[in-house]
Amino acid sequence: PGVRPLIAGNWKMNGTLRDAAALAEGVRAGLEQATGADLLICPPFLHLHVAAASMGWKAVAIGGQDCAAEPNGAHTGDVSAAMLADAGCGYVILGHSERRADRGETDALVRAKAEAVIDAGLIPVVCVGETEAQRDSGQAEAVVAAQLAGSLPDGFPAAKGVVAYEPVWAIGTGRTPTEADIAAMHARMRAELVARFPGEGETLRLLYGGSVKPSNAVAILALPNVDGALVGGASLKAADFLGIAAAV
Ligand code: G3H
Repeated sequence: PGVRPLIAGNWKMNGTLRDAAALAEGVRAGLEQATGADLLICPPFLHLHVAAASMGWKAVAIGGQDCAAEPNGAHTGDVSAAMLADAGCGYVILGHSERRADRGETDALVRAKAEAVIDAGLIPVVCVGETEAQRDSGQAEAVVAAQLAGSLPDGFPAAKGVVAYEPVWAIGTGRTPTEADIAAMHARMRAELVARFPGEGETLRLLYGGSVKPSNAVAILALPNVDGALVGGASLKAADFLGIAAAV
């Protein structure tokens, strides 16, 4: 018996409130296609409430795409982990490459945010991944191992935690690593996680993300140490998202 797969949709900064309601409703309505996996949707903050309400707050987990490292206070424009919990979230994506690249987020900041998420009783979905230049120069595994070491706090709930491997060059590009490269990276990550969190790293859900779609999901999700997917573009269509979930 393996780990139950998790198919997570990262809606990023897309759509209107009405779109979010329709998308959530489309996912909910097709749930019977996807009984082999746990589902998670991560709408923009302003759309969390309508998405959660559409789900009946239960059938599909809801997550934030980021949160503040601080618990509350004078942090204009920020959203705390406790606010996300209050809005019905069970998970928070942290350290996505778009935040690392566009917002200057460091491993240390991602680690601090993960601590805040854990303190709020939520599950962090910590993202790591190499750039194309790093892969071309043979550093991909070392880069990812260093990101894991720096981004995961010692209190990471490894047994139920989530880590997503997202090669930066595969995000939104339609390009994916070879199956052998995904399997090799996930094996390396599993080894790092088991070494750091003995007895827990074995059941941590290790997701692959980067241009996952229904047509490549069966092959990717069948790879060893791939316990699900973090889906961007294809999560914006309920049929595609459910098609990926049905591929486990
Ligand atoms: O968080 C999701 C990833 O960035 C993947 O995005 O499926 O559009 O390539 P994508």
